[in-house]
Amino acid sequence: MTHPPADREKPVKDLDPFEAERELARLAEEIAGHDRRYYADDAPTVSDAEYDELRRRNAAIEARFPKLVREDSPSRRVGTTAATAFSKVAHRVPMLSLDNAFADAEVVEFLARARRFLRLGEEAALDVMAEPKIDGLSLSIRYEGRKLVVAATRGDGFEGENVTENVKTIREVPRTLPAGAPEIVEVRGEVYLDKADFAELNRGFAAAGGRTYANPRNFAAGSLRQIDPGVTASRPLKFFAYSWGEILGGAPAPTQSGMLALFAQWGLPTNPLSAHCPTVADALAFYRRIGRERAGLPYDIDGVVYKIDRLDLQERLGFVSRSPRWAIAHKFPAEQVETVLRGIDIQVGRTGSLTPVARLEPVTVGGVVVQNATLHNEDYIAGIGGDGAPIRGGKDIRIGDTVTVQRAGDVIPQIVDVDLSRRSPDARPYRFPDRCPVCGSHAVREGNPDTGARDSVRRCTGGLICEAQLVEKLRHFVSRLAFDIEGFGDRQIDAFHAAGLVRSPADIFTLRDRKEALKQAVFEQREAAAREREEKSGKKRQKSLASEDRQFTNVDNLLAAIDARRSIPLHRLIYALGIRHVGETTAKLLARSYVGWTEFEKAMTAAADREGDAWREFDAIEGVGGTLATAVVDFFAEQHNRDALDALMRQVTPIDDPGVRTEGSPVAGKTVVFTGTLERMTRDEAKAMAERLGAKVAGSVSKKTDLLVAGPGAGSKLKAAAELGVKTTDEAGWFELIGKAPSP
Ligand code: IVH
Repeated sequence: MTHPPADREKPVKDLDPFEAERELARLAEEIAGHDRRYYADDAPTVSDAEYDELRRRNAAIEARFPKLVREDSPSRRVGTTAATAFSKVAHRVPMLSLDNAFADAEVVEFLARARRFLRLGEEAALDVMAEPKIDGLSLSIRYEGRKLVVAATRGDGFEGENVTENVKTIREVPRTLPAGAPEIVEVRGEVYLDKADFAELNRGFAAAGGRTYANPRNFAAGSLRQIDPGVTASRPLKFFAYSWGEILGGAPAPTQSGMLALFAQWGLPTNPLSAHCPTVADALAFYRRIGRERAGLPYDIDGVVYKIDRLDLQERLGFVSRSPRWAIAHKFPAEQVETVLRGIDIQVGRTGSLTPVARLEPVTVGGVVVQNATLHNEDYIAGIGGDGAPIRGGKDIRIGDTVTVQRAGDVIPQIVDVDLSRRSPDARPYRFPDRCPVCGSHAVREGNPDTGARDSVRRCTGGLICEAQLVEKLRHFVSRLAFDIEGFGDRQIDAFHAAGLVRSPADIFTLRDRKEALKQAVFEQREAAAREREEKSGKKRQKSLASEDRQFTNVDNLLAAIDARRSIPLHRLIYALGIRHVGETTAKLLARSYVGWTEFEKAMTAAADREGDAWREFDAIEGVGGTLATAVVDFFAEQHNRDALDALMRQVTPIDDPGVRTEGSPVAGKTVVFTGTLERMTRDEAKAMAERLGAKVAGSVSKKTDLLVAGPGAGSKLKAAAELGVKTTDEAGWFELIGKAPSP
């Protein structure tokens, strides 16, 4: 389901538990997507900073709502799950990640923190090993009986891909360890490619019209994932050992430096630049020296890793979530280069956001040819920061300008500065389009009428017709709290949209007219689903179809399910439109206020002037703020949307809002919480029922709660109610209270 976009920008401190839960779900999904694109596809779509911001937000919400931390929270994962082409290897000791430091002060604080944790005074020794941070991909190589038996990528940190055959082709990785090495040992380190080899191979690939890679790291990753080890063998991959997983009998040396020395004795390559540093000053001096030598090194590095040398201290320091307390990565600043801005293209995202992309005179930044860079948003181009204050000293960016491009890691490069002394006299300020380049609808920046602050993002208002947003909007349209058509979810939307069968909400209700094409699409969708399951489970297809398929096989059932939803409560229809800021609660509020669709539509259209009676009445509804009102009115003002709505209304008949039956309702104005397993109604039904009776339904028990309805399995909420003296009843008690015999 789609999450109401309103939560996205809300400060963490203002989120209520419902919103926080939704927001965590959204972040988990979004971050997993970025991880997949970064790690599995080698094709990230956001900058490091944007990615970090998402993670920070996730962490901040989790810190405020520790109970809401999800199983699949990004804070519990590193990287992405292994792709399907290779079998999986569970790491007996997880392969974790490192925290980053950018400033010297963060490194100093890292060591100070370790001292505090270990209760070491300032005078006590706390040596670190400083190692170049190789920009490759990490690998775990398991030796049993001194023979290489398995090699695996990091994957999600707990389970990686089995790349044994490919790793065996890396000349620098010994197939056997000498006598004296432990019976079982997992050596960990980085697979990488020299810059010169990368450039030469990439040139060859380009000449042959084949696929090229953005940088040595991606090239190494791509090479290691080859299905045919022969291909991997043809790539001059290299390896540095710097860590380990399981070792039978424990680590055979007492320090990181000692372990590196042993690795070298065993014939494993270790980085010759690594240095033992007794003090912070030594460590920082190492960082600066390596920074100077960086460009001349044969391979890419992106920083320095400091590790507390003594393993007994490492043991005591342990880990916090996904990184050790005994190590930190001190990253190098991003590389910057000047080039000319040739043009600005506008991309439209799935949520309708218009993002400017810089088209650059190609330039090499840190060994990578850069042609595109993000310009973030309209204000950024104009020299205005997120807080409304000037950035770059207020300098705007114009087409033809000489600009500074920065590339940090492998993520999308950005433009950080502009050289005014080289601006052409006839360069004009860039005019950001106020129309969506995909569908031609108006693109607007939301303003908060109360504060005057404007959203930095300009968005397309053609939600129902814009090809860039269509699939997302259609998925929302059929989602559980919207039209909720049985057997009709994301998969069906994807399949029917791809088949050209559904291009607008109304099309869903005219599918009967295209029954043959629908049958074909249903068949193909089912085949694809079965193939996917097969791949996932690794098993051959079962003869008997899973129940969801059986139902789906029957196109008539699907058409009947669609017909059954031609008439739905008004608030569901309003919610289904996917108007910005209109979540479930708001949709109910609007339905309750306007009762019928005709009245609602008329009022919203009349309110377009933003000053007459219709607008004033709308704006005056308690719970309707200026931002929300503007978003709804803008939506209805868009001719494309009105056409789509007219077409839809020829197909469906929303049911007038029944209003709240508060007279005689024993729960009117009361705050009710449902918990535990409800047997006679779903949670959604319970909520709807309570709301119809004028009650407010809350997600957690507080002093304000009037009644807790607890089914079997109720836990913490029941306890909280007892502590706060909140009245509690069970499901039967609830029905008795509201005077309605429970339906069987
Ligand atoms: S130690 C538990 N040492 O950096 C600590 N990592 O950002 C394990 N890396 O996943 C990592 N050079 O792929 C360590 N000398 C080095 C490294 C290094 C590169 C990579 C490694 C790790 C990532 C963390």
